[in-house]
Amino acid sequence: MPEDKIIVEGGRRLAGRIPVSGSKNAVLPIISAALLSSGQCRIIDVPDLADVGVMHQVLEGLGAKLSRQGKLLDVDASSLSSCEASDEMVRKMRASFLVMGPLLARMGQARVSLPGGCAIGTRPVELHIKGFEAMGASIRNEHGYVLAETSGLKGARIYLDFPSVGATENLMMAATLAKGSTVLENAAEEPEIVDLANFINGMGGRIRGAGTKIIKIDGVAELSGCEHQVIPDRIEAGSFLVAAAMTGGELTVDNVIPDHLKPVIAKLEEVGCPIDEEENSLHIRANGRLQAVDIKTLPYPGFPTDMQAQFMTLMTRARGASVITETVFENRFMHAEELRRMGADIRLNGRSAVVEGPSNLQGAAVKASDLRAGMALIIAALAAEGVSEIGNVNMIDRGYENLVEKLKRAGADIRR
Ligand code: EPZ
Repeated sequence: MPEDKIIVEGGRRLAGRIPVSGSKNAVLPIISAALLSSGQCRIIDVPDLADVGVMHQVLEGLGAKLSRQGKLLDVDASSLSSCEASDEMVRKMRASFLVMGPLLARMGQARVSLPGGCAIGTRPVELHIKGFEAMGASIRNEHGYVLAETSGLKGARIYLDFPSVGATENLMMAATLAKGSTVLENAAEEPEIVDLANFINGMGGRIRGAGTKIIKIDGVAELSGCEHQVIPDRIEAGSFLVAAAMTGGELTVDNVIPDHLKPVIAKLEEVGCPIDEEENSLHIRANGRLQAVDIKTLPYPGFPTDMQAQFMTLMTRARGASVITETVFENRFMHAEELRRMGADIRLNGRSAVVEGPSNLQGAAVKASDLRAGMALIIAALAAEGVSEIGNVNMIDRGYENLVEKLKRAGADIRR
């Protein structure tokens, strides 16, 4: 079957309203955390994404019962029959590694394929492993699998060398059923961590301090079920705001928590696009004139690395030179090569990229190297002259629900 492509005819301003779906990076750890519960969990506002489908399969492979009705996902993990996440699943989505913590806590053992690297970096998991060992698990590598076992996790004080989102999530889940208290220091502070903690506390967990650098978890013996609404996807929302700025449009993005987008809002206003905050919407007005600004990606509450590719694209249309520094991942500039094919003036120098603008982008055939680069190329195509073809669309389906329909409804000339 010929691989899907997205075709965009550039030059249309975005206008109107776009609804934002539930957060991919909140719902993936939350579905995994449902493994901790001996009851039934109902997760609300689950986006229809390929990655969610993979996590669904991983949990079914472990013996959990899942049923999906539209945006609702019911998970019953009361009786698990396996503690292995296969190589095939982890290769499809490295976030499958997030089942390690719950399996260790619930079953006392886990066999999860070691996640490989991906386009944006080697993505090691040694911080996860160190934390599990601190809680009393013994870990070894065998045939590419991480084998972990414990006679019962014990609370520990764990310092994370880097505020890793995944390590914070995995260790927070493991500590929930450990004996005694755990303190995570230098923890990640992303909103998705807070949402996960709220979900676990809804099941009877005892987590305090999520969203700060110090998270305290008092272990409990068992968790009940719960019902939880997933927070909106701040990166999807930010991507649409950048698309509006790129096309000189005027757009309202609905189902947003403005507080989660502070660095993105601040930068877009610095570029020259005023943004009005309403209760749970953001309204952006772009008049086509864009001022080059510098950005440096940092762990939350800094500028999000998942918005770097989209912002680099915007800077190709801005007046002046913009220096973009990526401090979180070691190889997250692949979109620069593709943007150059469209006429952008970008020079790479290690962790920094210098973008000179404004360039008049030309439509071209380009390929998405990762999920956010794919969105960046669509944003470029919306403002390019002529027709663009974006390949590797399966990458984009991993993290953007109904993207073509949402952009079409806002005036874009886009089709699959
Ligand atoms: C999460 O990945 C997100 N994925 C990523 O979103 C996001 O870019 C990233 O956090 C940073 O915000 C999900 O939530 C499913 P990290 P994660 O552990 O947990 C290094 C997207 O597009 N590191 O905070 O893997 C690592 O190599 C995706 O939606 C170690 O060195 O991110 C990276 O350089 C892309 N050792 C940095 O930390 C470890 O043990 C950040 O990784 C763990 C991480």
